[in-house]
Amino acid sequence: MESILIDVGAASDVTPGKFVAVKAQGRAYIVARVEDRWYAVEDNCSHEDYPLSYGCLDGVRIKCSLHGSWFSLETGQPQEPPAEDVIATFRIEERDGRLLLDPTPIVPSAGGGTQTASAGS
Ligand code: FES
Repeated sequence: MESILIDVGAASDVTPGKFVAVKAQGRAYIVARVEDRWYAVEDNCSHEDYPLSYGCLDGVRIKCSLHGSWFSLETGQPQEPPAEDVIATFRIEERDGRLLLDPTPIVPSAGGGTQTASAGS
């Protein structure tokens, strides 16, 4: 059965080497573009429930700005302590200039879900 994809914005809003934080269906995501590839992960550090969108990218890694753990955008795996648990990753594709995200995780987060977006989103 095919998943229902969520439109999370225009591809043109994300330049290579950058990411955007998006909220959709009560969840917070990071959508990143590295060269010609797209990545989507939960916008939540597995260490202390802190938004990864406050951090920065380096290639296919994102850094948590609170305690400095790096996570792979490809696998969700932490690459440096103190975080030890994986973050959720999601399938995302560009179609007709729009970014379509599958909300079913490829790799579920260790906590079993993603951060709930704030009210009003
Ligand atoms: S909250 Fe992200 S490394 Fe501690």
